[in-house]
Amino acid sequence: MQTEIYPFRNPGQIIFGAGALMKLPHEIKALNGKKVLVVTDPGIASVGLLDRVVKLLKQNDLLVDTYAEVKPEPPVSSLDSCAAKVRENRYDVIVGLGGGSAIDVAKGLSVLSANPGVISDYFGIEQVPCKGLPIIALPTTSGTGAEVTANAVFVEETSKVKMTVQSRHIIPDVAIVDPELTLSCPPALTAATGLDALAHAIESYTAQKATPITEMYALEAIKYISRYLRKATYDGKNLEARTGMSLGSLLAGVSLANAGINAVHAMAHSLGGRFGVSHGVANGLLLSYVMEYNMMADLEKFATIARAMGENVAGLTLREAAIKAVDSVRSLCIDVNIPLKISSLIPGFGRREVQELIPGVMSNVRCMSNNPRVLTAQEVEAIYMNAI
Ligand SMILES: [Fe+2]
Repeated sequence: MQTEIYPFRNPGQIIFGAGALMKLPHEIKALNGKKVLVVTDPGIASVGLLDRVVKLLKQNDLLVDTYAEVKPEPPVSSLDSCAAKVRENRYDVIVGLGGGSAIDVAKGLSVLSANPGVISDYFGIEQVPCKGLPIIALPTTSGTGAEVTANAVFVEETSKVKMTVQSRHIIPDVAIVDPELTLSCPPALTAATGLDALAHAIESYTAQKATPITEMYALEAIKYISRYLRKATYDGKNLEARTGMSLGSLLAGVSLANAGINAVHAMAHSLGGRFGVSHGVANGLLLSYVMEYNMMADLEKFATIARAMGENVAGLTLREAAIKAVDSVRSLCIDVNIPLKISSLIPGFGRREVQELIPGVMSNVRCMSNNPRVLTAQEVEAIYMNAI
């Protein structure tokens, strides 16, 4: 039990439910918005969702501009051209429409609307001096939790290292979570983002910084994601499954925003930054291997995770019950087609490649110091080796 003073923070407003998109004009006006920039990626634009949002805003007498060039795992320099646009125009609100990348770019542009320089000037914890334009986040995937977090992740082009802006000034002012927006998310992306959300829930539940408040959110998230991820992946038009995943991802995001993440994400960031493995796949692939190591630090919590995932642990020892949590995550990965071996994604991946990843992991002190078990470089290497 956490006995020290701890904060708990959330977005100003969360609006949840099928059809919640229709509340967007009202929320913009509630923020005194008249002129809006909608930030999204080409995929969202190509399926017509951007046009739908623009039409909705225009029908409600709002001026709308768009930026639909967001790249996956956004590079630092990708913000430059749009930051100039944001500084030239007098927008009142920035809407991030899409997955984590689009929402993170919206957060980055909000930072640059009120602060000079480039986004890398603000990497680190609470390095943003002034709050920028209000942010409304509209996720179209269930996974990143970006709609409720104080983080935005960008890739440094030269080092290929993922860097984070963590600031109270980039927690979205409003999160509009509409499960209908996820109905067309394809199976592979549903699975990958869903495993990312499960990693958020499990990591934040077991984190050093976990509190009774975050544990409550994390456990509920684990229940929803375990119950609905298979169905959302293979029966994507099922609104109940999509709603369950949206809720699970949202709750995991709230827990993550306050308790943080740890070794799974540190290792996934290093793997993704160096070899281009997507965030969700890297986290899903590595999650069970890190759990295997971490469970010894807190068998009770891992046994509770097994129960939350629907495993029958009656009559088992605490250790056996904790192992069930690891098995349950592996079964879920297999069922939704998330690979469990890095070499199946990167042919020839072996010890030499693992060693390239270690410095990036160990330098991620923010995540590694939050891990329930202290991990040495040798142990991180051993975990990667288990996963090759
Ligand atoms: Fe994540």
